[in-house]
Amino acid sequence: MSQSPASGSTPGDRTAEMPRDPSGRAPDDRSRGDQDRNGRTPEPVISLRGVTKSFGSHCVLSDITFDVPKGRTTAIMGPSGTGKSVLLKNIIGLLRPDSGEIWVEGEQIVGMRDKDLYRVRKKFGVLFQDGALFGSMTLYDNIAFPLREHTRKGEKEIRELVHQNAELVGLMDHLTKLPGEVSGGMKKRAGLARAMVMEPDIVLFDEPDSGLDPVRVAYLDDLVRRAQEETGATFFIITHNIPSVMRTADYIGILFRSKLVKFASKDDMKQSDNPIIRQFLTGRAKGPIGMDEMAEADDTDLEEVAQRDWSEMDEEPGINEDILTV
Ligand SMILES: Nc1ncnc2c1ncn2[C@@H]1O[C@H](COP(=O)(O)OP(=O)(O)OP(=O)(O)O)[C@@H](O)[C@H]1O
Ligand SMILES: [Mg+2]
Repeated sequence: MSQSPASGSTPGDRTAEMPRDPSGRAPDDRSRGDQDRNGRTPEPVISLRGVTKSFGSHCVLSDITFDVPKGRTTAIMGPSGTGKSVLLKNIIGLLRPDSGEIWVEGEQIVGMRDKDLYRVRKKFGVLFQDGALFGSMTLYDNIAFPLREHTRKGEKEIRELVHQNAELVGLMDHLTKLPGEVSGGMKKRAGLARAMVMEPDIVLFDEPDSGLDPVRVAYLDDLVRRAQEETGATFFIITHNIPSVMRTADYIGILFRSKLVKFASKDDMKQSDNPIIRQFLTGRAKGPIGMDEMAEADDTDLEEVAQRDWSEMDEEPGINEDILTV
């Protein structure tokens, strides 16, 4: 049975600005990074309501609530160890939250039977951190793999789809190579082509830029951007890379100390005066996010953390000083 989550039905994350209006714009009717000209936000394709996940006594995600707008790119950021990968695994049903609801295109997946979960998972293309290619298969066979595994398509149709996606990521000349024979950037691109080959409604990326130099990251960002625009799919990206987020994301969520600090459009996030968000988006060393990043022992309320005097933070030149004015 398909329903919708009750919007804002859970407490917590009160700062999160959640898209509510099921307007559903066409992919080309977009003023990037925010609502359309009528001030509406696309309908949510994934909705989290009060998602909480602990491992033993370690609470990794606490009462996380947000909506991922359909046909847009959402980036989830946060210091290392804040539960970003755990969040992604909950969304694809590889982990199960202790409490809360996760809705994917109108279906609540928490507690779903394996058979149904398997069906829902087919909506996702996933690009894992290391590309997760099969080392003994050529790039062609790697990209073709999901089609051979999950569809009854013939080799002719498979070839068309593989070529279409290889073309998109600029790998047409390298399809006969093994992953061990190509660069890290090419592996990522092959991973992207494989994630897209099933024409998924939703593509999830766990740190697509890790291990790449800045030029390759910029190239990959451009590719991600174009792929999203061409397919109109929903992209959900987990990353530490702030310039990357500024280039690709329409919406941003920031996780800190197991909580969602805020989820909003990129423009709203850039204008935020919350010191946690400002520090994260400018990459400054001084501020609420310290080396102890997760500070498990520190359970100070985030509102209280934000209200402290962080004026010294803005005096320090940030690594990405200009980023908020990009
Ligand atoms: N299966 C598991 N069992 C126990 N603890 C886990 C498990 N998976 C993750 N954790 C813990 O949950 C916390 C969050 O992990 P996660 O991998 O989600 O962090 P992250 O935000 O993705 O970090 P990074 O940016 O370094 O990838 C970590 O403290 C990790 O040790
Ligand atoms: Mg991770």
